[in-house]
Amino acid sequence: KELIGEVAAFNAKTKEDIETFRIKFLSKKGLLNDLFTEFKNVAPAERKEFGQALNTLKNAAQDKVNLFKDALENTTEQKGSYGDLTRPSEPIELGSRHPISIVRNKIIDVFSRIGFTVSEGPEIEDDWHNFTALNLPAYHPARDMQDTFFIETNPDILLRTHTSSVQVRYMENHKPPIRTISPGRVFRNEDISARSHCIFHQVEGLYIDTDVSFADLKQTLLYFTKEMFGKSKIRLRPSYFPFTEPSAEVDIYWGLETETDYKITKGTGWLEIMGCGMVDPNVLKNASIDPDVYTGYAFGMGIERIAMLLYQIPDIRMFYENDVRFLEQFKSVI
Ligand code: PHE
Repeated sequence: KELIGEVAAFNAKTKEDIETFRIKFLSKKGLLNDLFTEFKNVAPAERKEFGQALNTLKNAAQDKVNLFKDALENTTEQKGSYGDLTRPSEPIELGSRHPISIVRNKIIDVFSRIGFTVSEGPEIEDDWHNFTALNLPAYHPARDMQDTFFIETNPDILLRTHTSSVQVRYMENHKPPIRTISPGRVFRNEDISARSHCIFHQVEGLYIDTDVSFADLKQTLLYFTKEMFGKSKIRLRPSYFPFTEPSAEVDIYWGLETETDYKITKGTGWLEIMGCGMVDPNVLKNASIDPDVYTGYAFGMGIERIAMLLYQIPDIRMFYENDVRFLEQFKSVI
């Protein structure tokens, strides 16, 4: 009992203290060994109690040694020695931003300079926000343009096929003037190939105010392509979207200076980069905005496509493979 008390009270200040303690109690010639030898001579009636006390003592002594060893080793490492101060530091591995993030941030930056806010919405959408409010009522043939992933068997709940759904939500919650872009992930049930994927990213934009005209749209697109690509020649080709009227496809003139230019523009010099148009009056009505007072334009682009053009990435699948040899190439870009 006395010894148990001694062990409990033991306090080591140096490594030598622990070693002395260890030799006294736990070494071959230590007290514990002596006591275990003595165990033989203990009267059978007292054996149980003696044995238990002995074990308690042994464990307590061992615990003390471990405790102080750990503590003293850590403190010498922390405070005791500074080591070799001239040793070169460990290199800090810097990660890199994903090219999708880089391009999304660039697009946000370009549009925020002309007053656009950024809005976001859910990736799991209902039919109203993804289709119906956008002038795509049930059974409208244009729904087939967007191969939709439905959630389970409920046709009302789906993975959004574009971020136009965010703009519907924005119109429901804000009064014009509205100037917002919505970046985000979208989903389409498409075969995966070098040019298309079932998951990709979009930035869509919406501008609603009094007297917004097609000329405003065109000027904004020109500003965007200049800032983004350094190209100042665009053309608008008539197209169709249910939510805009008139609608157009935007091409930029990429030029025909290199062999790659020939390849990616199929020899024409022109490259399609987004869809756009004047917001259909029905879409405004669906969001309780009076089309007799307000007009607006909208546009939408795929971030992957823009990134592929900017960085000459030949295959869309590279964005999702997380191959560090690919990702590391974007280290210098912020
Ligand atoms: N929502 C369209 C798409 O995903 C893009 C678009 C947006 C077209 C706005 C016109 C106007 O393809």
